[in-house]
Amino acid sequence: MSEKKLAGKVALVTGGARGLGRGYALRLAGLGADIAIIDRNLQAAEVYELERELSTAPTVVAECEALGVRAIGIEADLTDRAATDRAAADVVARLGRLDIAVCNAGGGVVTFADERTPDPGANETVDVVTTGTPSNCSEEMLSRVLDINIRTCMYTCMAVTPHMKKQGGGKIVNVSSTAGLDARGGYHPYGTAKAAIIHYTRALAQELGPDNINVNAIAPGVIITGRLGDRPHMINDIPLRRQGTIEDCAKVVEFLVTDLSDYVTGRTIAIDGGLLR
Ligand SMILES: NC(=O)c1ccc[n+]([C@@H]2O[C@H](COP(=O)([O-])OP(=O)(O)OC[C@H]3O[C@@H](n4cnc5c(N)ncnc54)[C@H](O)[C@@H]3O)[C@@H](O)[C@H]2O)c1
Repeated sequence: MSEKKLAGKVALVTGGARGLGRGYALRLAGLGADIAIIDRNLQAAEVYELERELSTAPTVVAECEALGVRAIGIEADLTDRAATDRAAADVVARLGRLDIAVCNAGGGVVTFADERTPDPGANETVDVVTTGTPSNCSEEMLSRVLDINIRTCMYTCMAVTPHMKKQGGGKIVNVSSTAGLDARGGYHPYGTAKAAIIHYTRALAQELGPDNINVNAIAPGVIITGRLGDRPHMINDIPLRRQGTIEDCAKVVEFLVTDLSDYVTGRTIAIDGGLLR
């Protein structure tokens, strides 16, 4: 990854403090982009052992800086529209421009680990994730999961658009999931939220095409992160016979934010080893 094809560009990665978002930030920093990370908790990587093991510095911002680019971290809850607008403006004020937005914040999380009182008996405090069904889902779960997936994505897109228009173009990558493409999975209401992101991506691409802003989405499948862990029991369902890695997803993000995808917009790329049939 020696070619600095994103030198001079500024990339915003939401939810970049751990997991897949961290991987996107490092990949784009490696390509020479200056990085802005917006996360509700810039220390989120501390929650999971895998994330702690992967970290090479106290924060992802420091990891990006070690790759020789400028990097900033902004702590904000992206379910708050005004806070999201302020954060995007802050990125432009501090880094000078905004070319790329990877709207990755989200997940099937009902309660984040740092919002809970740690269980003294447990080895690790973890996020509480969705367990609803299409016909039975608590109000708390419904609001939280729609908020952290749909609102964060839409608010971020709306916040970055004016800056990108002013500059004459940009690249937006929204993060959906195979759960948004396939109704067989057991993740509700997460799958519904991720399906909405696919529709929103297509609609936004229609609107922003004339402004030279590409809007696409990725739909990761079974990817090993600290939050979701190792799921070897799923391998036999995956034609490529392995779980996905953070790098597998980061490579597709690279495609969608560089000139390799200049004539691609409104599309969703599944990164699932062939899982969806
Ligand atoms: N890991 C997978 O297998 C997988 C599969 C499909 C889709 N995805 C999607 O990829 C994205 C990243 O997943 P991950 O596994 O790395 O999850 P993760 O929980 O490790 O990372 C998500 C990050 O987003 C941040 N975040 C959440 N809500 C936020 C808010 N309101 N404001 C600001 N920041 C917020 C969290 O603090 C966290 O750092 C999510 O959108 C998830 O739905 C993951």
